[in-house]
Amino acid sequence: MKKPIIALASLVLLAVAVFVLFGNADTSATGASGTDEASASTLVVYKSPSCGCCTSWVDHMTAAGFDVEVHDTDEMNAVKSQAGVTANVSSCHTAKIGGYVIEGHVPAEDVTRLLAERPAVLGLAVPGMPIGSPGMEQGSPANYQDYDVVAFDGQGRTSVFRHVTQP
Ligand code: CU
Ligand code: CU
Repeated sequence: MKKPIIALASLVLLAVAVFVLFGNADTSATGASGTDEASASTLVVYKSPSCGCCTSWVDHMTAAGFDVEVHDTDEMNAVKSQAGVTANVSSCHTAKIGGYVIEGHVPAEDVTRLLAERPAVLGLAVPGMPIGSPGMEQGSPANYQDYDVVAFDGQGRTSVFRHVTQP
């Protein structure tokens, strides 16, 4: 009777050891990506796999010289709530750089200014998806919309970081 119990106990121990081993591997992987997010130079972008305007914004940021890392995910609501993106500033993609959150079609120059000035905000957003913002250049430029780049705090408070007027 004792031997099967010992065998079972060994199996359980083995399972625990394997779990711990893989658990550690997972943790170090998360730690590595956490390091990327904290880095001032890498823009880590989360977007839905099917989002075309998100890819256009990634192209805009890459062209501006940003080192961009793209993560496709179907869990954008979870990404936004974990990042502190409130509904009033919400857009399509969510990005992180230098400890800040970048929500939606924020122009590269505003991200550069944010990283240089480092104000005490959670991040910048262009709420919604205004036509004519970077990655949203659709149709006639005559129809491009003026919009605000806003700084937000994660509690629903915003302030205008820059008002963008279309030519
Ligand atoms: Cu978009
Ligand atoms: Cu997007």
